Amino acid sequence: MPEKRVVLKNCGVIDPKDIESFISNGGFAGLKKAMDMTPSEVIQEIKDSNLRGRGGAGFPTGLKWDFASKAKGDEKYVICNADEGEVGTFKDRVILEEDPFSLIEAVAIASYAIGAKEAFIYLRAEYHYLLENLQNAIDQTKDKGFLDHVNIIIYEGAGAYVCGEETALIESIEGKRGDSRPRPPFPPSEGLWGKPTIVNNVETLMNIPRIMAEGKEWFNSIGTESSKGTKVLSVSGDVNKPGVYEMVMGSSLKELVEDLAGAENVKMVQVGGASGRIVPFENIDTPLTFETVLGAGGVLVFNNTRDVIEMVKKNAEFFEEESCGKCFPCREGTKRMLEILERLTEGTASRIDLEFLEDLSETMALTSLCGLGQAAPNSVVDTMEFYREEYESRVNDKVKV
Ligand SMILES: Cc1cc2nc3c(=O)[nH]c(=O)nc-3n(C[C@H](O)[C@H](O)[C@H](O)COP(=O)(O)O)c2cc1C
Repeated sequence: MPEKRVVLKNCGVIDPKDIESFISNGGFAGLKKAMDMTPSEVIQEIKDSNLRGRGGAGFPTGLKWDFASKAKGDEKYVICNADEGEVGTFKDRVILEEDPFSLIEAVAIASYAIGAKEAFIYLRAEYHYLLENLQNAIDQTKDKGFLDHVNIIIYEGAGAYVCGEETALIESIEGKRGDSRPRPPFPPSEGLWGKPTIVNNVETLMNIPRIMAEGKEWFNSIGTESSKGTKVLSVSGDVNKPGVYEMVMGSSLKELVEDLAGAENVKMVQVGGASGRIVPFENIDTPLTFETVLGAGGVLVFNNTRDVIEMVKKNAEFFEEESCGKCFPCREGTKRMLEILERLTEGTASRIDLEFLEDLSETMALTSLCGLGQAAPNSVVDTMEFYREEYESRVNDKVKV
């Protein structure tokens, strides 16, 4: 079976407003087990589980915790990244809405493991309606005595996509404009207020109580050799059953979009939101793993009626709007990229524009300061490879360069 509930185990099952309902469904078993171990044993368990980050980059979670735990200083921070700004991604929202207690349990375990006395949940501005639910879960958990070692604070974002990027997010919590920082130093050694900090995605953290309760061997038995566990994916676009699906790592894109979400006449699928990769229909059997396609898990399906250049232009509009403007390749590149795509859709593009587009994509990917500018050209690069004829057909040979 490609579907398996690990992260979404409690979603739709427990009452998200009532801690007793959570506890009667096995809640806090992971935290209790962790508190009976030393912090370094907890970190080793997570390292051995081979859990990798679900926020897009796939960085090994245990290793990140290890760096922060070994970094000098008594003041350390845990940040849960609940910014979820990627286009077409809404899986963290379901978790926050339906199982806030598991997330609080996970933050409590992470804080114990690295020695953080303060933790933040950075909540996407558009998820303001979930604040009360989340605060209620924190308050009830505190009343039960499970948060004696850490104070969890919810920090609301202000609506910028780039603030999901961990260093921009940290700047934002510090009360500054949400611009990315150059790295190194990386947050586990110098993060919030210059102190060792781990930033983890909501879904990554949701795996933690399960791993602690069930053990690393159990987690390692799910998924593929290098992609362990499950992945929660949000599917939208040209499908009959849009929604959130939790799949065993290594399940195919076909199983997700055709068999489960009921897509028909698929032309292409974008996996990982606007910054994700394009999978043409002929590659629909691609397995969903870190090594192939995954990103944050936003899956957008396009059927045969869709225009490739129009779709790529929409992506470019998004990045042009959301670039923080700090680095030149992204600030200027996203603008020039959009202009070329506009010329292509308006019929005023010359042949050399295609060369400009390729050149610009490569420059942005190589030289932008953060993942926003580095990934902005992904859909251009992929569609130029798979749908070159659609670009060629838009060139107007009458236009003088
Ligand atoms: C432009 C941009 C936006 C991002 N937005 C998010 C986001 O909304 N949520 C998230 O968890 N990670 C986001 N990330 C990734 C984070 O920088 C970081 O890698 C992640 O939170 C680390 O958590 P993980 O190791 O658990 O995946 C974004 C990255 C970039 C470049």
